[in-house]
Amino acid sequence: MVDSLRTLIGPRNMVLLDAGNVHGFQKNDVSDREADFIVRMMNRQKYDVAMLGPKDYTQIDSSRAAMLGAAEFPWVGTNYAEGVRPKGVVETWTTKVDGVKIGIFSWVDPAWQGNSMKAEELKDNLEATAKALRKSCDVVAMVAYTNVQEPEVLARRVNGLVDMMILGGVNSPAMSVKQEGNVFIGNSGDRGRHIARFDLLLNREKKIVKTDYAVVVLGHELPVDPQVTQLMADFQTEQTRIKAANLEKIRMARLAEFNIDPATLPGANSTLSYTGEKDCRDCHMDIYNSWRQTVHGRTFSDLIRNRESEQEMKVKRAVTGWMETTGFIDRRESSHMYNVQCESCHGRGSEHVKTKGGALETLVAPESTCLRCHDSASSPNFDLAAGLKLAHPPLTPEQLKEMQKSPAGGLAPGDKMKLEGAPKPAPTNVGTTPIPASTAPGQTSPNKPANEKGLPPAANTGAKQVSPVNNKPVEGKKKPATDGTAPPAGSGTK
Ligand code: HEC
Ligand code: HEC
Ligand code: HEC
Repeated sequence: MVDSLRTLIGPRNMVLLDAGNVHGFQKNDVSDREADFIVRMMNRQKYDVAMLGPKDYTQIDSSRAAMLGAAEFPWVGTNYAEGVRPKGVVETWTTKVDGVKIGIFSWVDPAWQGNSMKAEELKDNLEATAKALRKSCDVVAMVAYTNVQEPEVLARRVNGLVDMMILGGVNSPAMSVKQEGNVFIGNSGDRGRHIARFDLLLNREKKIVKTDYAVVVLGHELPVDPQVTQLMADFQTEQTRIKAANLEKIRMARLAEFNIDPATLPGANSTLSYTGEKDCRDCHMDIYNSWRQTVHGRTFSDLIRNRESEQEMKVKRAVTGWMETTGFIDRRESSHMYNVQCESCHGRGSEHVKTKGGALETLVAPESTCLRCHDSASSPNFDLAAGLKLAHPPLTPEQLKEMQKSPAGGLAPGDKMKLEGAPKPAPTNVGTTPIPASTAPGQTSPNKPANEKGLPPAANTGAKQVSPVNNKPVEGKKKPATDGTAPPAGSGTK
């Protein structure tokens, strides 16, 4: 996509910038490797510049500093206080594009509240920075992280000084561009699924005469880059390996703590692994929904409700594969193994899932499976024969009806535990609105922003989407509301 834009616009007429936050807030080797991978891919794509978001700033140590240093582009962190801004991170950045001088700075709202920034680590030099850049540059752009004030408030402070404001760290789809005074505000949307594109047209006096904003949706029509695909696959394989090795370390430490010999655990020599309920749900929806209604489907939420989730002997009976490889290890790592899931009775499902119905570890739960948890001490009145029938009885017509009503597969609304892993609603198909030619300076664009407070109305934005392939506006290509699962009305097919 970027390559084709470069060809189209001319490689030297374009500035490719990233708003930053390539790190996670949590610092661990998995998320750091991810950041490192992102930076290497940005190098490959020849990014011009990137901002240092609050997440990147968090816990900068030698490894993170090395990662920042490995970037072949500069990082900008404008308002980090003296001594706080990491070495090598510049305060502002300027470049010349076709004779036009562009200045870029980044701004983390001093009122930012997160687990990363403290007020004293940020200085409030917004106007001074903007003024200095305005004096020396033809175009001034700012990347803002603000989760406490409306972006318009910031925009008003720099009206006349800044031409465009790009919002960083916005975890919602790309919004329609807004105008506040002479400042155009846009964002690129959620997690790399879109690229925001500002087009500026300048006159001979190097004054902006036209600004256009579009969000390029990185959709499936983009040709796949085989090299990138290979790099991604290698990276993910390695991530999976490291995650598994990390988990195994935690498991060994926990087993030592409980003085348990791993060889004595069920399936110690198995080459199969647990996959978790989500996989089973995909193909056995009815059984899944029935199981969800049983005691086994909520053993762990019951523990949490009764404040017993720290009692390991209770936890052991309320989770899947307690302390086994790929099973439940602890609350932090293994929330996907909460409850007495399918695989507690049917055994590890990796091979069955891979082969779409092939061998399970145990095809039909033998008595010993139940008795592992229902021994005479914990279940003195356990009736195996009756119990077997209750594992996931056929759903009653009422239950089936109830299930159809709820988007989460029949789970009670508001039950957070249960809702974990519920199917996500289909992604909103968002486009963006070009700046209406009639929008006079000082007049706010009528479109509502897509910030944390609400999404833009999907239907009436008059969306302009640019095809990433040929740069032509995409029009009249509405997806069916059900995302392809239902035929379009009148298609005559079933
Ligand atoms: C890709 C689809 C798919 C997934 C995912 C899947 N299954 Fe199955 N499962 C099947 C099919 C198909 C059959 C029927 C096989 C047959 O009857 O020969 C089946 C049968 C079964 C059976 C009955 C076996 C028997 O011989 O009676 C059990 C138990 C089962 N699955 C459990 C699970 C569990 C547990 C999971 C999750 C770990 C799971 N399935 C995930 C497709 C799937
Ligand atoms: C508490 C133990 C237990 C749990 C948990 C459990 N099952 Fe079962 N499952 C059984 C028993 C017992 C049978 C019945 C065996 C029989 O009748 O011979 C069975 C039968 C099945 C069968 C084959 C017969 C049928 O009803 O189609 C499938 C498929 C199956 N289970 C899938 C699942 C899935 C998927 C889950 C998780 C959503 C799950 N089971 C959770 C114990 C369990
Ligand atoms: C991983 C542990 C585990 C396994 C395996 C397991 N159960 Fe359970 N089961 C529980 C827990 C925990 C409860 C909640 C009540 C309790 O603490 O006994 C429960 C509850 C039940 C209940 C409801 C009892 C009540 O008091 O309402 C039945 C019936 C039952 N299990 C049957 C079975 C059968 C049959 C099997 C084997 C096919 C089985 N269970 C396998 C952990 C397990």
